[in-house]
Amino acid sequence: MTESKTHKGSSLYQRRHLLGIEGLTAQEIGYLLDQADKFVTLNRSAKETSDSLKGRTVINLFFENSTRTRTSFEIAAKRMGADVVNMSVATSSVKKGETLLDTAYTLNAMHPSLIVVRHNESGAVSLLSQKVDAGVLNAGDGRHEHPTQALLDALTIRRRLGTLSGLTVALCGDITHSRVARSNILLLNTMGARVRVIAPPTLVSSDMERMGVEIHTDMRQGLKGCDIVMMLRLQMERMQGSFVPSTREYYRFFGLDAEKLSCAKPNALIMHPGPMNRGVEIDSELADDEDRSLIRTQVEMGVAVRMACMEALIENVVLPESGEERFKHG
Ligand code: NCD
Repeated sequence: MTESKTHKGSSLYQRRHLLGIEGLTAQEIGYLLDQADKFVTLNRSAKETSDSLKGRTVINLFFENSTRTRTSFEIAAKRMGADVVNMSVATSSVKKGETLLDTAYTLNAMHPSLIVVRHNESGAVSLLSQKVDAGVLNAGDGRHEHPTQALLDALTIRRRLGTLSGLTVALCGDITHSRVARSNILLLNTMGARVRVIAPPTLVSSDMERMGVEIHTDMRQGLKGCDIVMMLRLQMERMQGSFVPSTREYYRFFGLDAEKLSCAKPNALIMHPGPMNRGVEIDSELADDEDRSLIRTQVEMGVAVRMACMEALIENVVLPESGEERFKHG
């Protein structure tokens, strides 16, 4: 049986869940990044291991396809000694609301310590978190948030440039459908970076202005003076109707190639959360350019950030004693 805790841990992150970047303080974000830094060192050393999640069960509950994020959470949990169960749930044939809550009650009865959830509906992960005793990590909900992606991006930038504060970061491409963009904007704003979004008018919604970012529809103009150029995938699966004339046309105006990159700062760095559409949003050679591209580092940082987040949450998970009523209906 999973161990019960009667009081919260002593870390600077005092929450049981990680549902989004929204509402997190700069101190909480800084703490998670500092902890993740330690896990980067640990992951690079062959000998060291962590047993922070030993005897704990982590469920990866994915209602949407994912390769890198699911694998990254799985490796992170296993490196800390957890037992990991992967569940992929097809949503196509079932009513989403019902399935989600039924699934929550079922999983709760299995006493997991942490549940990692990805769902195609914005808000679904938060709803699930209200129904379970486990700590819940949002691995991406609809267009809403993808907090561990923003944290791993921040760690990647911080390790390379030493700071986030004062940097100018451009997020380019399909802003409207991107939870990565939303979480990154929230995090970068909180940490004192300036954010620009660059997109065709059809792929950037008006609520972006309220998020305190500069909007550009001309890529060369938007890239001027940028330290970081973060490219985003065209999220065709979230588009109903036509948002771009053709992928060829899109690449011409919004695909990152060497010529457009030359408009940014001379040593500007390239990022992409993956999966990449080479030749659609980014030139293939540029994506692989070891001097300019941080894309592979992002993947490495992903494991460390997820270890840090899971360790922080587990301190705050208080599972009921055996025999207690565990179901939270209503
Ligand atoms: C992102 C996602 O799922 O939101 N990818 C990821 O987590 N690696 C971005 C995307 O799918 O384009």
